[in-house]
Amino acid sequence: MVGKKKHILWNAVTLVCVTAFCACNEEEILSAPLPADALTSAGTATVYNIGKSAYDTPAPWVTGDLLRRFYAGDLLYDRNRGTEGGKGPLYAGSSCGSCHSNAGRTLPSMYTADSGSGTIGFSSQLVYITKQNGSFFRNYGRVLHDQVIKGEKAEGKLRAWFTEESRSFADGEKYSLQTPHYEIAEWYADSIAAEDLIIDVHIPLRHVGMGQIMALDHDELRRLAAQSNYPEYGISGRLSLIAERNRSYVGTGGNKAHHADLTVELGFSSDLGVTNDRYPLEVSEGQSQNIGYSHYGIQITTREMEDVDLYMSCLGVPARRNVNNPAVKRGEENFFRAQCHLCHTPTLHTRQEAPVLLNGTRLPWIAGQTIHPYSDFLLHDMGKGLDNHVRTGSAFSYEWRTTPLWGAGLQQTVNSHTRFLHDGRARNFLEAIMWHDGEGAVSRELFGRMTKQERDDLIAFLNSL
Ligand code: HEC
Ligand code: HEC
Repeated sequence: MVGKKKHILWNAVTLVCVTAFCACNEEEILSAPLPADALTSAGTATVYNIGKSAYDTPAPWVTGDLLRRFYAGDLLYDRNRGTEGGKGPLYAGSSCGSCHSNAGRTLPSMYTADSGSGTIGFSSQLVYITKQNGSFFRNYGRVLHDQVIKGEKAEGKLRAWFTEESRSFADGEKYSLQTPHYEIAEWYADSIAAEDLIIDVHIPLRHVGMGQIMALDHDELRRLAAQSNYPEYGISGRLSLIAERNRSYVGTGGNKAHHADLTVELGFSSDLGVTNDRYPLEVSEGQSQNIGYSHYGIQITTREMEDVDLYMSCLGVPARRNVNNPAVKRGEENFFRAQCHLCHTPTLHTRQEAPVLLNGTRLPWIAGQTIHPYSDFLLHDMGKGLDNHVRTGSAFSYEWRTTPLWGAGLQQTVNSHTRFLHDGRARNFLEAIMWHDGEGAVSRELFGRMTKQERDDLIAFLNSL
């Protein structure tokens, strides 16, 4: 309760000082104590594991039959599926866990190889291909599958390379930003001319708080969208509404907030080539190399997929660390001074009613919780640099969902890298911030004008999330 009041106070403080940024009443901000529940990132789902499995630990209330199903789902998620598991004929990864190792973000091969000469082929990422007019290529579909079972031909290979630009802060500290570039070689069928093609590459998202994200109080998000209008900072967030199966859904999942569920059926079908009740045809169905191939029958049951849904939904959310460290405390204040919280909202709530999984299982434990995701789950214009030139769901090409930052400080421990942003172009937190543009430009400027010490402190705060 105390925590909630404090955040309202912080918001009030920011509103008072809207006309001149940084003329904020710093004393008032500085004296704002830590929310009483700062450590409990996701209420009763908070876990205190700070090791490699920090993202991959069941919430404390996962016991008995629920725990048995959690581990069954975990196994299906991580199992390297051979053809006997229904994988292929075309696929983008051999298991969910191959891309989301330890329920996090596996580092794609294009970031491990020498980037100077460029890499060919890819692992642990999704490569979306679209026509300039936004539609799909008949022979390829939306996702490029560069892996195949024996006897098949990959749809194509991605080549990635980077250009680098050095910059410096006003105080002289240097940094540089890398822009990725892509082309596709070795098309299996008709070559697609580069000028007809948009290539959009995404690295996996952390699963931290997936259950809570799906259970968010949509009325609170609607209110936030209505309030999220700070003309003095150029910020106005937008709720993602997606029309699917004759209904309108609030999208909170995915980098474009284009998913209203955990996309288990889509993941098995499109990423692994595993047919299921919702997607009964192989992803290669209709491709010229597979005419008459049709499908092998349903390769995973809805009950099994619900175990995977349950596994992701029941993952615990890591508690914050080092919250009393002076640098972390100063960094938190700087986070507010740079207006990061206007999009990376510290506190939200889950709905009162229990979320329902794919096959009807209810999870009452996730309902009615106060959570600290550090996201508003709204879409924001992030400027030209991050524009991917494709419209996804209701999101324009330059719009992205604010990435929840809970657990982000543990990514190095869990996945051994600090690649950030939707395509992983940022090599660390500092670069991720400096890519913010459009509605994020004021935050970037405010951060850029801080002293090195202040920037370091802000990053120490991000590492405590
Ligand atoms: C080839 C790599 C790859 C494989 C295999 C893969 N994923 Fe993903 N996954 C991704 C990427 C990339 C994203 C981010 C997509 C975006 O930008 O929204 C993602 C996003 C997600 C999300 C949304 C996360 C969020 O925060 O909203 C869920 C849930 C998910 N995947 C589950 C699965 C499941 C379940 C499987 C296995 C059936 C799977 N994934 C297999 C790469 C993969
Ligand atoms: C206008 C809204 C907005 C503001 C203000 C904002 N962000 Fe973001 N932030 C976003 C969006 C949207 C993304 C996702 C962009 C992408 O992936 O291309 C993002 C991504 C990030 C990421 C990468 C996370 C990850 O796991 O990949 C970090 C770190 C981050 N923001 C930190 C900050 C900090 C620190 C500030 C203040 C200095 C800030 N942001 C201000 C909207 C915002």
